[in-house]
Amino acid sequence: MQRQRFRFVFAVILSLHLCVASPSQNTHVIHEQRMVHGNQWTKGNRLEPGRSFALKIGLKQQNLDAGGDLVYQVSHPSSPDYARYYSPEEVVEKFAPSGETIDNVRSWISSNGGSSILSRDKGWLHVNMTVAEAESMLSTQYYEYKHISMNRSTISCEEYSVPKAIRDHIDFITPGVVLMTSEPSQTRKRSVTGASTGERFAKRVLNDTSTCSEAITPMCIRELYKIPENTLNHTNNSLGIYEYGDYYAQEDLDLFFTSFAPRIPNGTHPTLVSIDGGFAPVTPGAADGESDLDFQVAYPLIYPQLITLYQAEDKIYTISGGGGLFNNFLNAIDGSYCSYSAFGETGNDPKFDNVYPDTKYPGGYLGETQCEIASPTNVISISYSKSEFDLPFYYQQRQCNEFMKLALQGHTILVASGDAGVAARPWDPSPNGCIGTNHTIFNPNFPGNCPYVTTVGGTKLPAGAGIDEPEVAAYLPNQDRTDYTYTSGGGFSTIYSTPSYQSSALGDYFKNHDPGYKSFSSLHNATHNDSSPVGANGGVYNRIGRGMPDVSAISQDIVTYIDVDYGLLSGTSAATPLIASIVTLINENRLKAGKSPVGFINPVLYENPQLFNDITSGNNEGCGTKGFSAVQGWDPVTGLGTPKYPEMLELFMSLP
Ligand SMILES: *[C@@H]1O[C@H](CO)[C@@H](O)[C@H](O)[C@H]1NC(C)=O
Ligand SMILES: *[C@@H]1O[C@H](CO)[C@@H](O)[C@H](O)[C@H]1NC(C)=O
Ligand SMILES: *[C@@H]1O[C@H](CO)[C@@H](O)[C@H](O)[C@H]1NC(C)=O
Ligand SMILES: *[C@@H]1O[C@H](CO)[C@@H](O)[C@H](O)[C@H]1NC(C)=O
Ligand SMILES: *[C@@H]1O[C@H](CO)[C@@H](O)[C@H](O)[C@H]1NC(C)=O
Ligand SMILES: *[C@@H]1O[C@H](CO)[C@@H](O)[C@H](O)[C@H]1NC(C)=O
Ligand SMILES: *[C@@H]1O[C@H](CO)[C@@H](O)[C@H](O)[C@H]1NC(C)=O
Ligand SMILES: *[C@@H]1O[C@H](CO)[C@@H](O)[C@H](O)[C@H]1NC(C)=O
Ligand SMILES: *[C@@H]1O[C@H](CO)[C@@H](O)[C@H](O)[C@H]1NC(C)=O
Repeated sequence: MQRQRFRFVFAVILSLHLCVASPSQNTHVIHEQRMVHGNQWTKGNRLEPGRSFALKIGLKQQNLDAGGDLVYQVSHPSSPDYARYYSPEEVVEKFAPSGETIDNVRSWISSNGGSSILSRDKGWLHVNMTVAEAESMLSTQYYEYKHISMNRSTISCEEYSVPKAIRDHIDFITPGVVLMTSEPSQTRKRSVTGASTGERFAKRVLNDTSTCSEAITPMCIRELYKIPENTLNHTNNSLGIYEYGDYYAQEDLDLFFTSFAPRIPNGTHPTLVSIDGGFAPVTPGAADGESDLDFQVAYPLIYPQLITLYQAEDKIYTISGGGGLFNNFLNAIDGSYCSYSAFGETGNDPKFDNVYPDTKYPGGYLGETQCEIASPTNVISISYSKSEFDLPFYYQQRQCNEFMKLALQGHTILVASGDAGVAARPWDPSPNGCIGTNHTIFNPNFPGNCPYVTTVGGTKLPAGAGIDEPEVAAYLPNQDRTDYTYTSGGGFSTIYSTPSYQSSALGDYFKNHDPGYKSFSSLHNATHNDSSPVGANGGVYNRIGRGMPDVSAISQDIVTYIDVDYGLLSGTSAATPLIASIVTLINENRLKAGKSPVGFINPVLYENPQLFNDITSGNNEGCGTKGFSAVQGWDPVTGLGTPKYPEMLELFMSLP
C-alpha cells in the first residue's frame, strides 16, 4: 500500500551481554555475578594494580520490606489513607540507611586501605583505593572490556564477593558486573517519501473512523476509548515522558499537528528537562522515532495540557552505554536517590557507570551528574526497557525501590511491556531473546517486572474491523528491518513475586486458563547462574512471579511523521503514552476538584476489572512457542484489557 512507507515496531532499546563466573575465596560470599554469556564485549587487559580506583557502594536502605504495605495504604481504594501521599522528606527519612550500616561498611573499607565519603542523601559511599586494594577487598579481578562495534570501553568484573556480615548492608558496587550498551532500535534504514501521502490521507479520514483498522489516527484513539477532546489546563499537571538516546524533531511534530491534530498550533513542544547533557529537539534527519511517536500519541489527547520531556544522558553515553538505564534519571528527579555530592571527590573516571563530567570523549556532557534538578511529574511514561536477565539483580532492585518511593509520593509510572512477546528482542541476550541452555525459557521485561509500575501491553484492530468491534492482541510478523514478530510483551517475573493486588486475578487465570507449559515456582537472586532455580524441571515461566502486563491499548499501525516521512508505527511504545495521557486527564479532573493525583493505579485497576474492555483473542509468541493466549479476565498478553475512559474517570473521581 502506498501509505505504508515504513512500518515497524518500537520499545525495547537496550541489550547487553554477560559471561560466567569463577569461584571466590572462602571468607567471602559472592555478592553479584554475571548471569549469561554475551557477545558484544571483548575482555581486554587486567587493570594495573597500582592504579587509583574509585568505587561507589550502594548502601542498603531501611524499611524497604515495609514499602509494599506503605504503597498499599496510599493506593488501595479501600484504604482510609487512599491518596494521602508521603512528602519527599518523609520518604528520605523512612528509607535512609541506618547508622549501623554506614559505620560497618566504612570500617570495612578503611580496614582494606580505602577512604570513603558518604553522599548527601546517605545512600552511597564513594571510595578511593588502588585497584589492588579493591580487588583484594572484593576477591575479584577487574578487566577492561571493549565493545565490539563501538569505540567504547568499560571496567567490569565477572563476580565479586564481600564478607557475609557486609552483604546485608549493601545493594551493589560499581564498577561491578554490569556490561551494558544501548542500541536504539531506530537505527534501521527506511525510505524517505515525503509527507504528502500523510496529508492526503489525513484530509480524507481526519474525522472518519471507518478506516481505523488500516491506520490509527488520533480520532480513532479517541473513539476507541471514548476520550473527549481535552480543554482543561491545570498549571501543575504536565505529562512526563522519558527519552534516552532518541530525540524528537519539531518539524515532525508540526507536520503531524497540521495533518492529524489541526487544533494544535505549530511549534507546540514539550518542556525540556535536560538530564546530564540530554538535549532536544534535533533536525528531522536525526529523529529516530521513539520520541516523535510518544509526542504524536500524547499531544492530541492531552493538549492544551503540557508535556515535560525528561531527556536523559549525553549523546556519548546513550550511544555507547555504561549506566543502569534509569539511574541518572532517578538521580535527577529525586534527591533521595542522588550521589551528586561525591562525584567530584571520587575522581571522574568517565569509563564507568555514566559518571559526569564526561571528558574523555568529544561531545560528552561536562557538568556534574545532576541531582534533584526537576520534580517528578504526576505521571511518567517510559517506552524503554530491557530484559530481566540483562541487568544485575541489585540494579533492578534499587531502581524498583525507587519506583516504590515515587508511588508513595503519588506518582504514576507507566512502562512499555516490550515488543517480543514472552521473549526479549533477538540477541537480547541470546539469538531468540530467550534464556537457559537451549534458549527455551521465557524472558520477562525490566522495569515492567517491578510491582510498583503499571506495565502496558499492546493490541490492534483486526483487519477490516469497525471501531466498535473487539480489539485483539497485537501481532505483526516479519518486521521489514528485522525478521522478528511484534507481539505484546508479557509473562511472569523471576525476581518479583506476585504482588497482593494481583493475586486474585492471577489465581483466576491459572485456575481457568492454564497456559499448558511446564513452570517453575521460585525467585532468583544476585548469585543466580546456570545452577539457579530458573528453568527447574524444564519449566519455562515462573508460576509465582509478578504478572505482566497490567493493561493494554491500541499499538499497531499508528499514524506518525518521522524524519518528515509519513508512515505507520507499531509497538507497546505507542500504547504507553496513550495510557499515560488517560491517567493525566483523570488527574486533571481530580486536581480541578481539589483532589490529589491518582498515584500508583494498579490496586484500583485490579479491584475494578469492569473499567476495561477484556481482550480475549490473540497470543504473544516467542521462544519457539505460541506464548500465552489472551483469555477472559486478566492474561499475560493484554493484562486487564483496554481502557474505558468514561468509566475510569467516574471511578477515580468517586475516590477520595
Ligand atoms: C554458579 O554458582 C555456584 C555458586 O556460586 C558455583 O558453584 C557454580 O560454579 C556457578 N556455575 C557457573 C556455571 O558459573
Ligand atoms: C473535522 O471536524 C472538525 C471539528 O468538528 C472540523 O472543524 C473540521 O473541518 C473537520 N475536518 C474534516 C477534514 O472533515
Ligand atoms: C496551559 O497552561 C500553561 C501554564 O501552566 C501555559 O503556559 C500554557 O500556555 C497553557 N496552554 C494553553 C494552550 O493555553
Ligand atoms: C503549582 O505548584 C506550586 C508549587 O508546588 C504551587 O505554589 C502552586 O500553587 C500550584 N498551582 C496550582 C494552580 O495548583
Ligand atoms: C506548520 O508546519 C508544517 C510543517 O513544517 C507546515 O507544512 C505547515 O504549513 C505549517 N502550518 C502553519 C499554519 O504554519
Ligand atoms: C579521592 O581522592 C581525591 C584526590 O586524590 C580526593 O580529592 C577525594 O577527596 C578522595 N575521595 C574520597 C572518597 O576519599
Ligand atoms: C576512539 O576514541 C578515542 C578517544 O576519544 C579516539 O582517540 C580514537 O580516535 C577513537 N577511535 C576511532 C577508531 O574512532
Ligand atoms: C537441551 O537440549 C538437549 C538436546 O535436545 C537436551 O539433551 C538437554 O537436556 C536440554 N537441556 C535443557 C537444560 O533443557
Ligand atoms: C539466592 O537463591 C538461592 C537459590 O534459590 C538461595 O539458596 C540463596 O539463599 C539465595 N541467596 C540470597 C542472598 O537470598
